[in-house]
Amino acid sequence: AGTAAARVVLAAVGALAVAALPASAQTTLTIQHPLPLNSHYGAGASAFKDAFERLTDGRYRVVVQRNDNEREMMESLQIGTLDFSVSSTGPVGNFVPESKNLDVPFLFRDTAHARGVLDGDIGNEILAAFERRGLTGVIWLENGFRHLTNSRRPVVTPDDIKGLKIRTMENQVHMRAFETLGALPTPMTFSEIITALQQGTVDGQENPITVIVSNNLDQVQKYLSLTGHVYSPAVLVAAPATVARFSAADRAAMIEAARAAQTANRDRVSADEATGVAELRRRGMSVVTDIDRAKFEAALAPAYAVYAKELDGNLIARIRAAA
Ligand code: PAF
Repeated sequence: AGTAAARVVLAAVGALAVAALPASAQTTLTIQHPLPLNSHYGAGASAFKDAFERLTDGRYRVVVQRNDNEREMMESLQIGTLDFSVSSTGPVGNFVPESKNLDVPFLFRDTAHARGVLDGDIGNEILAAFERRGLTGVIWLENGFRHLTNSRRPVVTPDDIKGLKIRTMENQVHMRAFETLGALPTPMTFSEIITALQQGTVDGQENPITVIVSNNLDQVQKYLSLTGHVYSPAVLVAAPATVARFSAADRAAMIEAARAAQTANRDRVSADEATGVAELRRRGMSVVTDIDRAKFEAALAPAYAVYAKELDGNLIARIRAAA
């Protein structure tokens, strides 16, 4: 899979037909991600920094920065004012429509299914689509399965969601799902979430355990339901302008560093998921673990009918059928 990803990047860079320029004594590159350094994204970004600096013998210095606005990072990569980003696919579908297919609720059975699909042909096909939209998709990372939190009541059945104001990502696939369940989806960037929850502009939000823990969302949310309603992929994206300046050896170093980022990021998600629910209980959250996912899927039938028309039904079927 890594070799295929490398081919995608190398071919795309070749297509730009820009001569590689030698790096000056030390070139500074920036990678942004939207969570605290001590998080699964911070782990990935730091591993990328360490590996890339080492593999390029100190010719590059990589600065890791936090930016909670994932849409803004995509825009900056497109215009070349940022070099790399780690983000969820939340707003990515607005730039690379093919990625929306990954955001369908209850599409992935479990983490192994998701990682297998993203590291295989399907994941590489979607990464290749980034290049057509002025972005370089380097490798798939992970955010994790998303769960619902709110300040009003325990959510056990789909009916319990009715009438709740839920902050969603700026993602039409997710918004349609919550609308179908009778919630009032309110899209906003992550940077606004704490204030919105504190002030009651929204009642709830949904994110993986690792995000809930690392951002102390328990301080503004009482109820957690382990809905696992959608797998949230993350992706390491590069600015084509940055990659175009790399030599072939630098590009190979970027791919190897990206693999190190993937390992560090996924290991951290797995570790956080193993301990996170107990930690959130300890901090006082009331956790509903017994969720009948089939009931939620059934309640989403009207949304699936729209996805079948608006998204790539063939691709979605291939993802579902993947081992
Ligand atoms: O909810 C979101 O916006 C995303 O899951 C987050 C927390 C920025 C991580 O990608």
